[in-house]
Amino acid sequence: MTPSASALLDWYARQRRVLPWRALAGQAADPYAVWLSEIMLQQTTVVTVMPYFERFLKHYPTVRHLARAPLQEVLAAWAGLGYYSRARNLHACAQLVAEKGAFPDTVEGLQALPGIGAYTARAIASIAFAVPVVPVDGNVERITARLHAVAEPLPGIRRQLDQLAAMLNLDPAAQAVPGDFTQALFDLGAGVCTPRRPSCLVCPWRESCKAHASGDPARFPVRAPRKIRPERYGVVFRLMDSQGAIWLRHRPPTGLLGGMTELPGTAWQDDPIAFETALQLAPSPLNMSDRSGQVPTVPGLTWKVAGQIRHVFTHFALNLTVIAVRMSHFGSLHNQEGFACPSEALGQQALPSVMQKCLALPV
Ligand code: ADE
Repeated sequence: MTPSASALLDWYARQRRVLPWRALAGQAADPYAVWLSEIMLQQTTVVTVMPYFERFLKHYPTVRHLARAPLQEVLAAWAGLGYYSRARNLHACAQLVAEKGAFPDTVEGLQALPGIGAYTARAIASIAFAVPVVPVDGNVERITARLHAVAEPLPGIRRQLDQLAAMLNLDPAAQAVPGDFTQALFDLGAGVCTPRRPSCLVCPWRESCKAHASGDPARFPVRAPRKIRPERYGVVFRLMDSQGAIWLRHRPPTGLLGGMTELPGTAWQDDPIAFETALQLAPSPLNMSDRSGQVPTVPGLTWKVAGQIRHVFTHFALNLTVIAVRMSHFGSLHNQEGFACPSEALGQQALPSVMQKCLALPV
């Protein structure tokens, strides 16, 4: 039996979530709010995004406000949301849209903008501009794989799931309200057709779902075995002066955490770093050791290992040893890359979560 769009939309009318970026029933969506939320929601959960979204909308009420803001300020406001290239693209996109005067209202036009891929273009087009397309994220893949009990594993079946999801949209009831249909799918995936324990009893599509009929819906979508995530290692130096200021530096503009702020430290490598090696790579005056592995005795300087943190990125897990160094002043760092940040200004820095963890370790 073909799943009925009306059944899903009736369920949505009763159960729809109230979300800060979502227009109330019957009201027009604001393309800027839709775009901002969709960029934030890439790879991040609704609960995490909510306070960031509200803060951004307060600081940058329109795309023109965001376009005018300095990039470093936007990166700092984004800090903690991860995947920082998204924030750089967000800013670049805002500038293009502000220049043009409005967001494009087609999938192709949206997809030509920085940071907007096929999924996000379809999400924005359907929600903000009522274009009848179905964005296929993890939720929609799961729903579709279950409706059809697709036996082959992800990620190989992505194209197939994409085509099956597009068929959901052939129902005229779905085409009549593309934004509601898209958001109903998101809500169904988030609240009913959940990954581990789907609540089939309350699902409006239960009767047409082959995974439900199989008796073990959570088995779908089938996944290829996960690759093991490699571990990487590094050492960072948390240098603090007598006023509590911290020595920070900017990362290169591109690559992982590009343009973000960090504590100085060693490169990240595949094996744990010997303490003596780390010391030789430390900012002066710490690396004035005689290469014997002894920590230099510099007047006014004390240090200790504050601890280790572990941070999981998409493709590897990073283990950082944090060495806390107290020094009376940063004068000896004058020829080092970086800058002194007063403790009260740390909140305005674009510090990624991994660095916030290093700073949070008790001394
Ligand atoms: N996930 C991605 N986009 C979403 C949205 N607009 N609402 C809820 N969850 C989402």
